[in-house]
Amino acid sequence: MGVATAHPSRAPLLGRVQLPSDKSISHRAVMLAVVGEGTSRIENFSPAGDCRASTRLALSLGCALNLEAGTLTLTGIGMATAARVFPEPFDCGRSGTTMRLAAGLLAGYRFSVQLTGEAQLLGRPMERVAEPLRLMGAEVSTSPGGRPPIVLRGGGLTGISFTPPQASAQVKSAILLAGLQASSPTAISEPVPTRDHTERLLAAMGARVRVVDSGPARTVELEPGGLGSLQLRVPGDPSSAAVVATAAALVPGSDLLLQGVSVNPTRMGFFAVLARMGARVDFEPLTGPESPEPSADIRVRYGALGGFQVAASEVPALIDELPLLGLLAATAEGVSEVRGAAELRVKESDRIQGLVVGLRRLGVDAEELPDGFVVSGPAPLRGGSCDSRSDHRLAMTFTLAGLVSTAPVVVSGSAFVADSFPGFFELLGGLS
Ligand code: S3P
Repeated sequence: MGVATAHPSRAPLLGRVQLPSDKSISHRAVMLAVVGEGTSRIENFSPAGDCRASTRLALSLGCALNLEAGTLTLTGIGMATAARVFPEPFDCGRSGTTMRLAAGLLAGYRFSVQLTGEAQLLGRPMERVAEPLRLMGAEVSTSPGGRPPIVLRGGGLTGISFTPPQASAQVKSAILLAGLQASSPTAISEPVPTRDHTERLLAAMGARVRVVDSGPARTVELEPGGLGSLQLRVPGDPSSAAVVATAAALVPGSDLLLQGVSVNPTRMGFFAVLARMGARVDFEPLTGPESPEPSADIRVRYGALGGFQVAASEVPALIDELPLLGLLAATAEGVSEVRGAAELRVKESDRIQGLVVGLRRLGVDAEELPDGFVVSGPAPLRGGSCDSRSDHRLAMTFTLAGLVSTAPVVVSGSAFVADSFPGFFELLGGLS
């Protein structure tokens, strides 16, 4: 779907950039507004294709919903909803977040539903949400290999204490959504904390949620109960900001101001590594501590880059940015290594394999590890063709490679970029 050709940049990238709003926060805002009482107002709702799957779910559930000029208003169905059957399977498109969060949300209701999606989504693991929801009392079955479609019949839940075997904010969020409608409290322990947007929005909507930090580990405790409405302005997506920051860090002399970006600490791993590598990264905070989701302007300036190490404890805070770091490693002096990131193999594609294959095609010395990769730089990128494997993050990574290659880079599957970053090619074209 779509082919893009990225040409070497002839000049530094300069200016101010407005990013699309955050996808993870937007998904959660919809799901929580559905279960909340009253009308929620979510400004700067994400234009990402994936988030459309979540608004479609709200519509299928009978919510009154309006999306105009980026502002979503949504009247929730609350909790006490009569038993219902979805006559048609619900199509989550390519959005894993929609499917996993929807499983948790719907487990709270006496609904029978089948959750399905496009081919790419049908290959992704779903037992990770099915298992805890079963423990809570929902009837959940997955298809062979623990894949979608998921068939689910919810209602009558009890709370659980659960430690997900993999660091996954989607699994945590699914359990929390179900826990709202359980008859007893729920606790989720995370040895390595993942993004905490669900916890923040739950608190902002009046839920009795408590976060207990013990060393690096974190436990989220939730009392069941109703939610109010949500009033929120969604900040810019730090994962999309990382894409533009990578462009600035690749092209000598670049200086970009990324405006209004979420600086939620559970999402900031990429910028920490970028600064460690030698790029100049400065933050100008925009919101006070009372805002559920903090934001800032981030200025990124080119600097000579050195190699980096990323260990398991850092991975959840930069999981979606690892392909970008792989590309940056190719232009950095020395060896870079990522470990503890086996989860990358079960994203929209096997991103470890897809990244290493693509980088090698461009002449980079890159090796797969079972749970990460090793890249030795600097490599003169020679241009060529790269397959995005229908994966938006790989498509953007390979497109950026074209900025610093000696010949153009041709990227297949460029249309999938709209899953998270509509307008990416226009924005990049305007800068380079
Ligand atoms: C997300 C969590 C991460 C991330 C995904 C979005 C979320 O997935 O990779 O792009 O919004 O909760 P996992 O929860 O599977 O790690």
